[in-house]
Amino acid sequence: MDLLDHPDPARAWSEQHRAAGRRVALVPTMGALHDGHLRLIEAARREADVVAVSVFVNPLQFDVRGDFDRYPRPLDDDLAACAAAGVHAVYAPTAAAMYPAGFQTHVEPGALADRLEGAHRPGHFRGVTTVVTKLLTALRPDVAVFGRKDAQQLAVVRRLVADLDLGARIVAVPTVREADGLALSSRNRRLDPADRAAATCIWRGLAAAAAAHATGERGAAALEAIARSHVEAEPAARPEYVEVVDAASFEHLDEAPAHGALVVVAAWFGEVRLIDNVVLGGAAEPAGDGGDPAGDP
Ligand code: PAJ
Repeated sequence: MDLLDHPDPARAWSEQHRAAGRRVALVPTMGALHDGHLRLIEAARREADVVAVSVFVNPLQFDVRGDFDRYPRPLDDDLAACAAAGVHAVYAPTAAAMYPAGFQTHVEPGALADRLEGAHRPGHFRGVTTVVTKLLTALRPDVAVFGRKDAQQLAVVRRLVADLDLGARIVAVPTVREADGLALSSRNRRLDPADRAAATCIWRGLAAAAAAHATGERGAAALEAIARSHVEAEPAARPEYVEVVDAASFEHLDEAPAHGALVVVAAWFGEVRLIDNVVLGGAAEPAGDGGDPAGDP
């Protein structure tokens, strides 16, 4: 496994493989790898001949300084996990390599990034689109793999790649969950035991809303009330939003269609902010995107 720490060797690594006719896949991450990330790596291995994983805690996408400072960075564990998973290269640049003195150019996302995560985390998606553009232009992968857990990010990245002709095919992987339903997240390890137990309320709420939708409930207010009631029943949870949105535009819906809507949740547990979502009625987007057409759950 190659360890790349700068855009120049990353570009050279990719060029060498593409020149030899090998298809390159990229799995962008911020490290602290868990089984969700590993599922993305498995998908990347199916889609391409060589797989690069980027590990970079991107300062541009953190709106709260403490969250950036406390973000876990177990690089040795991550390297071992990547090697065991059959990854061919880890691209782990320093912040100085990504954003050297004088850096001043950003990629500005559009309306898709205005609501929900974009509204609650000012500048977050601008940081994501900027770093993803840099990763995709350095590594020029044929395929880039993202998780449905960050559904709005996935939509923003698809738009980015289409709008700026970045050329990578985006593959989406369904959310990987703990046995009790909690979506795996690098931030889960910062939950104390009481908050970890409380955090299961998110999936209880999402699953209850999805079950109501499956039996015919279409009113967004009713579906939101069902999901919200589970979150609010948990005293340790501080919900930020619970919304039924269009899976493509992330605009709020009054009525959930049979397919093509999501329930999205963001909630705080102590100092940890968690997000999750469920696809109502199955596939979040047309099959043939290279991802799992079954979507969530
Ligand atoms: P990170 O939070 O490390 O997530 C990396 C990728 O793993 C994302 O595509 C995310 O959706 C996916 N992922 C995380 N938890 C998952 C789960 N439980 N099931 C399935 N997929 C999961 O998202 C980022 O990093 C950054 O914003 C990044 C895209 C790397 C840009 O900095």
